[in-house]
Amino acid sequence: MNKKNPIAIFDSGVGSLSIIKEVRKLLPNENYIYLADKKHFPYGEKTHNDLLNIIQNTIEYLLKYFKPKLIVLASNTPSIQILHKIKKYETEIIGVFPPIPEAVNISKTGHIAILATQNTVKSPELDEYIKSQKIPSAVAITKFNASSMVGLVETGLFLSNEEKSLQLISDELAKLDKIDNLIDTITLSSTHLPFLNKYFNALRPNLNLIDPAKIVSEKVKKSLERNFQDSEGKGTLQILVSQEKELLETIIRKLGIYEEVNEMCLDF
Ligand code: DGL
Repeated sequence: MNKKNPIAIFDSGVGSLSIIKEVRKLLPNENYIYLADKKHFPYGEKTHNDLLNIIQNTIEYLLKYFKPKLIVLASNTPSIQILHKIKKYETEIIGVFPPIPEAVNISKTGHIAILATQNTVKSPELDEYIKSQKIPSAVAITKFNASSMVGLVETGLFLSNEEKSLQLISDELAKLDKIDNLIDTITLSSTHLPFLNKYFNALRPNLNLIDPAKIVSEKVKKSLERNFQDSEGKGTLQILVSQEKELLETIIRKLGIYEEVNEMCLDF
């Protein structure tokens, strides 16, 4: 392993970018591979076994072709549901999890919501994860299915149709209010959701939005400090997409990312 080896970051599509942005800010000299696995979108509607199969194969693909020194599974859905079942490799794999203690700390009402994908909110693993956080029993935690909002991001509608986006998010927030109108803090527990912050802010200016991207970037930094940190030269970003290259290009260009996008084939 060499310090010039890349850090591979992947998700089912646009989602990883909210993580990549923070990691690159903190570690600008590193080389990155960003794999947008649009072929397998949405992770949030896959069965447990399918998800395990997809993630295991994607990790092995990345290890084989790019020899990354670190892999970031920039997606809450598989991190919560199946990361503990993935084989152990020499290369460390860092996942993304709901920043529950941070949400509890900032909440004034003690009512928080975890916005995650459909199958994640239904999964026993999310319940176990919440339990493991040892949150005071007075705190009320609502698990909320945010898959329709994730879809707004992946299709690019959040950029191309503001009116429709605002309406859909407003409807979803009204559903959340109906469940618990004291919620003052939400965790953005799909990496797609931070792209909707402007809508959340417009609709609920007082709602606290807790994004795990900074926590993940600190974890990446700590991991590299233990071995292969690269502090010299200009880092690179190589972008790969498993399907719908043009759509990904349109979205990321609007987000200010101009690196070339290459389509690749995942045969699983
Ligand atoms: N962005 C992913 C997450 O953090 C999931 C999106 C999907 O359903 O593929 O959970």
